[in-house]
Amino acid sequence: MIDKIDQLLKQVEAATPVTEEEIEQFRIEYLGRKGILKALAGEFKEVPGEQKRDVGQALNALKQKVTAKVEELKAGAQRNALASGPALDLTRPHGGIPLGARHPISVVRREIIEIFNRIGFTVAEGPEVEDDWHVFSGLNFPPEHPARDMQDTFFVEGDNDLLLRTHTSSVQVREMNKRRPPIRIVMPGRVFRNEAVSARSHCAFHQIEGLYIDKEVSFADLKQTLLYFAREFFGKAKIRLRPSYFPFTEPSAEMDVYWGLETETDYRITKGTGWLEVLGCGMVDPNVLQSSDIDPAVYSGFAFGMGIERIAMLRYQIGDLRMFFENDVRFLDQFGPVS
Ligand code: PHE
Repeated sequence: MIDKIDQLLKQVEAATPVTEEEIEQFRIEYLGRKGILKALAGEFKEVPGEQKRDVGQALNALKQKVTAKVEELKAGAQRNALASGPALDLTRPHGGIPLGARHPISVVRREIIEIFNRIGFTVAEGPEVEDDWHVFSGLNFPPEHPARDMQDTFFVEGDNDLLLRTHTSSVQVREMNKRRPPIRIVMPGRVFRNEAVSARSHCAFHQIEGLYIDKEVSFADLKQTLLYFAREFFGKAKIRLRPSYFPFTEPSAEMDVYWGLETETDYRITKGTGWLEVLGCGMVDPNVLQSSDIDPAVYSGFAFGMGIERIAMLRYQIGDLRMFFENDVRFLDQFGPVS
């Protein structure tokens, strides 16, 4: 039987099927249900025990040889088919260049800026690596405030004073040092906090800060400005301000938007209350004005700050913050091509 298998091996090597049909025929002849290898397997049963090992190995070798040859022949036939296919048509229009899409964070940032542009706010930006003064001390943070803690803030190694800003409020301080009232600005930017990455928090995210300083700016102005924003951005006409605390504003508040309780999603994202927390705000603390050499007896102002990811999650009903940072094209494509 070994001789017979050797013979077949040679035959396989010598075979030269060319077209796809010929190759298929060749395959069936050897590997088909009634093919040569099936027949050999039948004969194998009769082989005496002591020869089984050698014959078995020879049979396996034959089977591998045939399988490899069929693969090789098929690939060759495909190449031939391509090479002899229709000539390349250089006048054919191409399929179009796929367009990228603006990132949802950019879309939302732009929209928020535009809304405030319309009522006279201009844009200011500041550095991401900051010193303690602009992020904390100049904003009236007491020396022992937990936000300064190593747990919340990324410090630059080897430098006690340099850190990654934890909020865009640092830009308020820079601008108050640079300009004189009236000041009416929005300050978008990236901020960093030493937090575990999860569906709800990230170590790097985006904020937009607002600041308005002039003579006789009141809490009513703050409230009206925020109501205008809520209407323009969310199309919701009801807001509420809850008392809160920030070292750099007094009084401080958090703004909720009334979202409604119509759908199941409404219940989920508002935790059954119908209200959504959107931003932090307050009247600029006189200490903060003073440390930037703005006289609190003459001027007053309000400030607010919001997380762009949070707002984008609400706008697009996105359940996981990490989506914004993965740059998965299937996610980004949903926000439409760049306009
Ligand atoms: N900086 C605050 C934060 O990051 C938000 C804020 C900005 C609050 C301006 C009041 C005024 O949470």
